[in-house]
Amino acid sequence: MNKKIVFASLCMFLIAACTREPLKIGFSVGDFSSDRWSQEPQIFQDEATALGAQVLFEYAYGDANQQIEQVRKLIASDIQVLIIFPTSADNWAPIVEEAHKAGITVIAYDRMLKDAGVDYYFSFFNEDVGKQQAQYAVDNRPKGNYIILGGPTSDNNSLLLMQGQKNVLQPYIDRGDITILLEKHLETWNSIDAYNEMQTFLDKNKVKIDAILAANDELAGGSIMALEMVEDSMVMIITGQDASVGGCQNILNGKQSMTVYKSIRNLAREAAQASVKMAKSEKITNATNLVSDGTNEIPAVLLKTVVVDKNNMKETVIADGFIKEDQLSFAP
Ligand code: GAL
Repeated sequence: MNKKIVFASLCMFLIAACTREPLKIGFSVGDFSSDRWSQEPQIFQDEATALGAQVLFEYAYGDANQQIEQVRKLIASDIQVLIIFPTSADNWAPIVEEAHKAGITVIAYDRMLKDAGVDYYFSFFNEDVGKQQAQYAVDNRPKGNYIILGGPTSDNNSLLLMQGQKNVLQPYIDRGDITILLEKHLETWNSIDAYNEMQTFLDKNKVKIDAILAANDELAGGSIMALEMVEDSMVMIITGQDASVGGCQNILNGKQSMTVYKSIRNLAREAAQASVKMAKSEKITNATNLVSDGTNEIPAVLLKTVVVDKNNMKETVIADGFIKEDQLSFAP
């Protein structure tokens, strides 16, 4: 090859390398509705930064309109990849379209964006969370009166989770072994909503409750507080999700039966690694599941969840470093 051509190619390569845009990822955090959300952005950032990318964060604190405005700001910030953890699943289609027009890859993180056609979804097998809760309950209480306290319908995971619970419970209900006393999606994931709901229920109904399928540890905690206000209100099974410090402590204290542990480290790291690849226009190969957003089938990376109760807490959440042993007080 002619020396001049080699020299010219080398110069072009060097110019391209020097002028390559910095890798930039935008991350929109919808809310902090459970312990996990105070850790996840940091884990994501550490991983993405180690891989050479910069992460711009926006926090909406549960305000859906504000989140949309913040995402518009991120779209205008020269990012290549946009991660959205939505506080509400609705109204995203035009925003995702805007991002796509700007050449940005969009990832729904943990919760799906409905009918919006995002490029990828990173989450857990959310229906399994509900199945695991209901299975735990029927294994321990195959007959009796059940209450189902779901998360808000603005979060698609709440619907998937309740679907999972129903799949397990339906044969028991059909046989007449289990009676559902109350089944409700609460307004938020906060314990106060579960507290109010259970207090109202307990005021009106003097009936034995065998199990409360609370969708996460916050709702479990609110139910426990309401039960503690009433004499003789022993409930055998109370489920949860997220392995929060409060939830795990309630389990150790015998007030809550189980929680569903999700390795948020694995999720945040997987999403960060994939985002950096996408920002470099490389392909990812592990989005082997498909999840419907209502209109489109979205390629998804879904991680497994783990049932945790007092018998395996040390081998799971503690061994994983998700909770430090000294954050909990174990019975002597
Ligand atoms: C859900 C999520 C749960 C829990 C809950 C409250 O969408 O899947 O893990 O964190 O939100 O934040």
